[in-house]
Amino acid sequence: MKRVFSGVQPTGDIHIGNYLGAMRQFVKLQDDHECFFCVVDLHALTVPQDPKVLKEKTIELAALYLAIGLDPKKVTIFVQSHVPAHAELAWLLQCITYFGELSRMTQFKEKSKGKESVSVGLFTYPDLMAADILLYNTHYVPVGEDQKQHLELTRNIAQRFNNRFGETFVVPEPMILKFGARIMSLTDPTKKMSKSDEDPYNRINLLDDPSLIRKKIMKAVTDSESEIRLDWDKKPGVSNLLTLYSLFTEMNVEEVENKFKGQGYGTLKKELADVIIEKLAVIQQNYKELSRDYVLSVLKEGAQKAEAVAENTLKEVKEKMGL
Ligand code: ADP
Ligand code: NA
Repeated sequence: MKRVFSGVQPTGDIHIGNYLGAMRQFVKLQDDHECFFCVVDLHALTVPQDPKVLKEKTIELAALYLAIGLDPKKVTIFVQSHVPAHAELAWLLQCITYFGELSRMTQFKEKSKGKESVSVGLFTYPDLMAADILLYNTHYVPVGEDQKQHLELTRNIAQRFNNRFGETFVVPEPMILKFGARIMSLTDPTKKMSKSDEDPYNRINLLDDPSLIRKKIMKAVTDSESEIRLDWDKKPGVSNLLTLYSLFTEMNVEEVENKFKGQGYGTLKKELADVIIEKLAVIQQNYKELSRDYVLSVLKEGAQKAEAVAENTLKEVKEKMGL
């Protein structure tokens, strides 16, 4: 079976962009791939975190992995910091990565722009991400569009290591959806939906209650026309809502356009809210039924399984590098 690895940061609230762009693919892959899904808490430390909140958010995200339908009998779910090999391999990879390469990462440029104090961790973050992936000899990495550049860097680092030290790493491939890999903000559809956006109305979180979901959708920015059609250049807001409707119902976009032909934005928004509320209700019910002790036990077992694989890779890497 081919290996799959992906991670999500336990920062802020997990939103439907994370779900549609990445996490929903995890569930689809679990039956015919050997999967490792990680709560990447070390990545979260690249910007300041409240320690208590970080700990809670880590458990919450692990519970959400289970609530969306990941089965711990089929996949390995674990916390990054529980497996020390991630940080250790990250250091080794930093030593074969060039300053210029990391300087070109657009996410770093965006996240550091205008900030007075930027951590070195934010700069070297792509090496930690490369370590996460390469430790598991990963073939496929299901992620959203924003991670494409980091994946390209991971591939370059893996190839460079293999060239210098002999065949070691599998060179991973990104798995990025053709449709839905970049869910846009509800309040500014020229930006991606993001946890770190200050405006909470920009996103719908997986644990938002029905009335809040409806409010957020009704407030979503559209345009001054009235036609419901997919046109990312002229109608980004409506296109984003159509995309959400299509992804949540698994109807294709033309079908959705036809369904709403001649109707107003109000109708589209009302029906979209209904669909999202219905889909998230299932996840929210599953989430409510999970006990903290159960989630912790899944993470404990996951760390053991992950560590066995990761330590094996790390040992080989260290030997090849002369350590
Ligand atoms: P965020 O970018 O919201 O802070 P993460 O960096 O933890 O979240 O990303 C977790 C996963 O969700 C990644 O695979 C990322 O590419 C994906 N993702 C994040 N935002 C979006 C979005 N707006 N649309 C689609 N996928 C997204
Ligand atoms: Na991201």
